[in-house]
Amino acid sequence: MPTVKISPSILASDFSRLGEQIREVVDAGADMIHIDVMDGHFVPNITIGPPVVAALRQHSSVPLDVHLMISDPASYVEDFVNAGADIITFQIEGINHPHRILTKIKELGCQAGVALNPGTPEDDIEYLVDNVDMVLLMSVNPGFGGQRFIPDVLRKITNVRSMLGDRDLEVDGGIDERTAPLVIKAGANVLVAGSYIYRHDSYLEAIETLRTTGEQ
Ligand code: DX5
Ligand code: ZN
Repeated sequence: MPTVKISPSILASDFSRLGEQIREVVDAGADMIHIDVMDGHFVPNITIGPPVVAALRQHSSVPLDVHLMISDPASYVEDFVNAGADIITFQIEGINHPHRILTKIKELGCQAGVALNPGTPEDDIEYLVDNVDMVLLMSVNPGFGGQRFIPDVLRKITNVRSMLGDRDLEVDGGIDERTAPLVIKAGANVLVAGSYIYRHDSYLEAIETLRTTGEQ
């Protein structure tokens, strides 16, 4: 099993001081910074775009893990790579030519991942999985932070782990001290957490709890 990594989602941070909030979780041991990009079309919410990512790049000494929840990712990947994304993950739903997007991201010198909504079967990525650096399994329906973890995803985590070998398998949504050990046990090794970390008084304690809770 690859080592457990924690990717705090800035969606739950104080947007009026984003740079500072990123430095704080990096200092507390974050392995990546998860940036949720929403377009008000693929999901019923709008967040941030490439200029904000570019402004945040200098505040992070760890990789920027950019999660695109947008309808037309192919048209925007170049802007996000230029903004400083280290890994770009796009949602597989509604994408006609996913290999083209994966190739484009890699040709731009960036790592590439695919994301699946809770209701999307892992069969949908069977014929692309060899071309990805990471798979992201949504454990809530995307659009908002602070939602309840959907336990059906645990079986999918186990199935996707067997497809991925030791590459990264990220889980996103409703991760806290109760659900973290479940997803790690099922086979996940990258945990996204927004509310759990940013609502905690000590980011250090929150990140360490998520990282080590599966070891017990
Ligand atoms: C939801 C986003 C998540 C969100 C997770 O659409 O993709 O990254 O920030 O938030 P929590 O950890 O609060 O469930
Ligand atoms: Zn996300």
